[in-house]
Amino acid sequence: MIRPLVITSLTKAFETPSGTHVAVKDFNATIEACEFVALLGHSGCGKSTVLSIVAGLSQATTGGVIVDGKEIDSPGLERALVFQSPCLLPWLTTLDNVVLAAREAHPKLNAREQKELARKYLNLVGVGEFENTAPTELSQGTQQRVSIARALSLEPRFLLLDEPFGMLDSMTRFELQDLVLDLWEKDRKTCILVTHDIDEALYLSDRILLMTDGPESKVGLELPITLPRPRDRHELAGNTDYYRLRKEVIAFLEHHSKQFQQEKAA
Ligand SMILES: Nc1ncnc2c1ncn2[C@@H]1O[C@H](COP(=O)(O)OP(=O)(O)OP(=O)(O)O)[C@@H](O)[C@H]1O
Ligand SMILES: [Mg+2]
Repeated sequence: MIRPLVITSLTKAFETPSGTHVAVKDFNATIEACEFVALLGHSGCGKSTVLSIVAGLSQATTGGVIVDGKEIDSPGLERALVFQSPCLLPWLTTLDNVVLAAREAHPKLNAREQKELARKYLNLVGVGEFENTAPTELSQGTQQRVSIARALSLEPRFLLLDEPFGMLDSMTRFELQDLVLDLWEKDRKTCILVTHDIDEALYLSDRILLMTDGPESKVGLELPITLPRPRDRHELAGNTDYYRLRKEVIAFLEHHSKQFQQEKAA
């Protein structure tokens, strides 16, 4: 049985020169297997803080994340992370960047098999023709495709995406959203997508977790996204449910933004 990923009473405090900053407090969520969840909130509310704890890159102050009944305290190959910036090694070819990850995750395969695996994922994300190219010669969108291939070559159960399209122009962003949607339709990896793009969250996810503003942010609203799948951007443009959900998200974000401003002013 595949169990959910459970985030329980997660609190993260940072020690800063001006005192303790409790960025996230009592954040609770259950992410079901094969679910696509978006984590949405204003800039600085704590989305990356939560995701990096799920990735095992950072420790919760109290509470934590449980996968398969075990608390996460370090990174694991079953949880692949894609950042806003592709972070590819410039001195390696595109293929070798992906091979590095394939080697790490599949040490029992021989070098040829690891290369084949890397190739498979480069082809899957549509950049196989650039396997011998240096990453610096590729556009941002193509580099981000390579970093998605690198994450997939780990063959993870969880795909953790921290604003992966944030640096892209809108047309490239649409292409990569469609790629992620297509990949998810094919094998339904459990996905957590951090974003502050409302339309992106609505287009991709099964559920949006809306975070309150920090400090002490938490899940303020869970919004199931019941829009039909497979999704089509053009069809959604004429879908009344889409606009109802969009309004709900905006109302939440506006309310919390106002509350935050008032608290700051008081
Ligand atoms: N290492 C750190 N030390 C001190 N404060 C930190 C640290 N990392 C994050 N913070 C603070 O914690 C809060 C949440 O930061 P976080 O980066 O998680 O927000 P975010 O929602 O991902 O923002 P954005 O949308 O801009 O990426 C912010 O107030 C930030 O300044
Ligand atoms: Mg962030």
